[in-house]
Amino acid sequence: MAKLMRAVQYDGYGGGPSALKHVEVPPPTPNKNEILIKLEAASINPFDWKVQKGKLRPLLPRKFPYIPGTDVAGEVIEAGPGVKKFKPGDKVTAIVDPFNGGGLAEFAVIKESITALRPPEIPASECAGLPVAALTAHQALVQSAGIKLDGTGQRKNILVTAASGGVGHYAVQLAKMGNTHVTATCGARNLDLVKSLGADEVIDYKTPDGAALKSPSGLKYDAVIHCAEGFSWSTFEPNLSSKGKVIDISPRVSSMITFALKKVTFSSKQLVPLLLIPKAENLECLISLVKEGKLKTVIDSKYPLSKAEEAWARSIDGHAIGKIIVEF
Ligand SMILES: NC(=O)c1ccc[n+]([C@@H]2O[C@H](COP(=O)([O-])OP(=O)(O)OC[C@H]3O[C@@H](n4cnc5c(N)ncnc54)[C@H](OP(=O)(O)O)[C@@H]3O)[C@@H](O)[C@H]2O)c1
Repeated sequence: MAKLMRAVQYDGYGGGPSALKHVEVPPPTPNKNEILIKLEAASINPFDWKVQKGKLRPLLPRKFPYIPGTDVAGEVIEAGPGVKKFKPGDKVTAIVDPFNGGGLAEFAVIKESITALRPPEIPASECAGLPVAALTAHQALVQSAGIKLDGTGQRKNILVTAASGGVGHYAVQLAKMGNTHVTATCGARNLDLVKSLGADEVIDYKTPDGAALKSPSGLKYDAVIHCAEGFSWSTFEPNLSSKGKVIDISPRVSSMITFALKKVTFSSKQLVPLLLIPKAENLECLISLVKEGKLKTVIDSKYPLSKAEEAWARSIDGHAIGKIIVEF
């Protein structure tokens, strides 16, 4: 085991990509029910740089310096006391506990409870894209919108906004496994890609109909998986079916007020703020879908750890198509 490992960290709030420092620090040690992995790939999420910006202060980071990065894929090096499901040599994917951080480093500690085995034949980069983005898409569709991925549910019309992004591109593919009609919004350059992921109709978000979220075939949505930011309730409302729900994965103060208002007035149309609650069983389900060839990770770009700040800048830029991967 190496005495020091390469890692990327920052010392305080703000500063963007240029505040990321390349350091050599001792590798972490797994405690009870934890696993030490050697990373093969990680993926960047907007969550990572939002934490750096201080959007989750005072909760996160718990202390500085902080090694960011939650989504990891790698090989088990050491199973800590009490770990039952994993042994050295296993290939895994997991979410690093964001309170402790640690994903942008050669070695990371992960909790057994949010780790899933990955078949060695699936590239690490493909699995590293899954944790936050695909789990969020899964939770929004299955738990909040009531979609059954085996296609047995009642027919539903779904809108996925920002369908070319990390969460959106998984949401389109997962939604189509259910009994659904999927409308999606994205930029003009991604219309063909989003169609190829399975969307039944795709709208350019920069056109008037796109801005109004109007279905080209005039359908009303039973659920909106809202992955783009912004949009007021008055834009969603005329496009919803009588019991339509907007599942907002980036809720602002205004959406929390709408959520509360809709609840207290017993409105049949609802706004549901979503916060990811990661579950290993859902990560296992997603990996099985990748293995069966039913779900794929679209990779926007790949960077070595030595260029992690470029991956960070790419995510802040807001124009990723699928997932941004860091390789080790
Ligand atoms: N609540 C949670 O637990 C949770 C979990 C995961 C993510 N999130 C949040 O969800 C949001 C999306 O995350 P992500 O990883 O999917 O982001 P992302 O990958 O960075 O999204 C980038 C994509 O969004 C597209 N886009 C931007 N604005 C759009 C619009 N108005 N209409 C249609 N497409 C638009 C961009 O297309 P162009 O390049 O064409 O503009 C780009 O392809 C972020 O705010 C993130 O923080 C929340």
